[in-house]
Amino acid sequence: MNVILLGPPGAGKGTQAEQIVAQLYIPHISTGDAFRLAMREQTLLGREARTYVDAGKLVPDDITVGIVRERLSKEDCAQGFLLDGFPRTIAQAEALEVLLQQRQQKIDHVVNLHVDRSQLLQRLTGRTVCRSCGATYHLHNHPPKVTGVCDKCGGELYQRSDDTEARVAVRLDEYEKKTAPLLDFYAKKDVLRTIDGQKSRDEVTAQFHSLFFREIG
Ligand code: AP5
Repeated sequence: MNVILLGPPGAGKGTQAEQIVAQLYIPHISTGDAFRLAMREQTLLGREARTYVDAGKLVPDDITVGIVRERLSKEDCAQGFLLDGFPRTIAQAEALEVLLQQRQQKIDHVVNLHVDRSQLLQRLTGRTVCRSCGATYHLHNHPPKVTGVCDKCGGELYQRSDDTEARVAVRLDEYEKKTAPLLDFYAKKDVLRTIDGQKSRDEVTAQFHSLFFREIG
């Protein structure tokens, strides 16, 4: 199954992606994670991406499409994949269509997680992330058992550089301007489903479950 997760920053895409890929046995492809890894390793890509990521702006389409093209060509994507944070512009969505046509694949589901802007701001400014395994927490609504330590692997928790109030505001504006038009793009193709992302984590996972497993049978 080939799935795209859409939704504004903080909608819960990464949180739900962890659950979905464990159930569907498909790889989780997050362009945000790919950029953060490159930034940590200080590669050429990482240095280029940092200017945009730290400012809350989208990385240019040609760079982003290049990463996804390379990742989708790996063997583990042959039986399906989950795209989290890609595409984010109409140009990226069109490039993805060309890539998939070349591989004789298609998108089965585009799932949009809907969350109000005020809740997104609260979620992002309170988020902490594990440096080792990438698990996400929240200072108030999902704290780790021991402050600053990941429950799953014992790694150190940190706040992302783009999760300050000012940068979150820029990211949400970028989303409205450049990514929200994708809802219409995919609705016209009749593959878009919207899920209420404001429910609890487990309730949101259950909505995905009924969507995917109803289709699988
Ligand atoms: P990226 O890493 O993709 O960030 P994002 O889309 O801004 O999304 P987030 O990771 O911030 O949020 P999320 O929806 O995954 O929420 P999460 O599950 O963590 O991109 C970062 C940057 O990289 C971009 O700004 C851009 O510069 C660049 N980039 C990436 N892709 C690109 C592309 N295609 N083109 C160009 N540039 C690109 O949850 C958030 C918080 O909420 C957590 O604390 C979590 O615990 C909590 N939470 C989750 N679910 C719930 C719930 N149901 N109830 C209560 N709290 C919840």
